[in-house]
Amino acid sequence: MAKPTLTLNGKVVEFEPGQTILQVAQAVGVEIPTLCYLKDATPTGACRICLVEVKGARTLVASCAMPAGNGMEIQTDSQAVHTSRRLNIELLLASGSHNCLTCEKNGDCKLQALAYRYGITDIRFAGQTQQYPKDESNPLIVRDFSRCILCGRCVQACNDLQVNRAIGYGYRGAASKIVTTGDRPYQESDCVFCGQCVEACPVGALTEKKAVGLARSWETKQVRTTCPYCGVGCQMWLHVKDGRVVKVTAVEDAQPNRGMLCVKGRFGYDFIHSPERLTTPLIKGEDGQHHPATWDQALDFVAKRLKEIKKKHGADAIAGVSCARSINEDSYNMQKLFRGVIGTNNIDHCART
Ligand code: FES
Repeated sequence: MAKPTLTLNGKVVEFEPGQTILQVAQAVGVEIPTLCYLKDATPTGACRICLVEVKGARTLVASCAMPAGNGMEIQTDSQAVHTSRRLNIELLLASGSHNCLTCEKNGDCKLQALAYRYGITDIRFAGQTQQYPKDESNPLIVRDFSRCILCGRCVQACNDLQVNRAIGYGYRGAASKIVTTGDRPYQESDCVFCGQCVEACPVGALTEKKAVGLARSWETKQVRTTCPYCGVGCQMWLHVKDGRVVKVTAVEDAQPNRGMLCVKGRFGYDFIHSPERLTTPLIKGEDGQHHPATWDQALDFVAKRLKEIKKKHGADAIAGVSCARSINEDSYNMQKLFRGVIGTNNIDHCART
């Protein structure tokens, strides 16, 4: 059966039933700016930046939330679209304290980028700055309500992507605020500190506390790597400045985590630069103290002791627990060593604990 078609900026394009106008445009390489749109989450149409003109429609429509229709004629960058987008950006700029110079997200802010792109040099409207105090009460996430544009991406990331359902909209009108249940501090709420809300925030309202003041976005190099914590293999970016990891974000559109991380992957990187980090094997001596050793010395020592124990007490006196931080192949080799070489089935994996 023939696919439905619509006309996008004068060009006829096919689309799949159920796609939104934004998805059709993205599929054919037509860029429509967005702010509140979050891939894989239910669109809210909150920011009205993705407005497009549909012939015959009473008003401009939010392309992220509007299903594509057969025969639609759409303009994504007409004068009316441009004027409305510009106005909406100006209103968002007036809705809070967007003093970029002092913002942690300077250079990595979608609102700042849109203001620049649409040539906004003045704030035309008398603004209203949110009066809620900055929340720095937890160790991982800073919440600066004066910079929040209530786009709802954090709520979608928490509810739709991570499905933690820890935050939502609270209060009404100008007093609106993103809150946990009962507006309690994060650490007293259902929040599991995955930090997906921080990753989704397009402005400086949510930032990684440990990264504050360490580097501007243009000063860091992004290094792609695999999370070291479990066998899932989540893909992450290390943001590195002068050889030091200053923060971690997820790689979008990559399996298996598709832009998401857990609390350990996102925030648990202190060990990299910890002065207490082990850098060499240690062997416990007769004096009860641990002494640095080479890998050859350590492995020879372990092999010697395993042989001695097996000879004296039998293979079942030995048990092994492989590490969830190891790759699957290492865990396979570990059970092979215990079953095939040492001769015991006493082998387990710490992920079961
Ligand atoms: Fe569509 Fe915000 S991106 S309304």
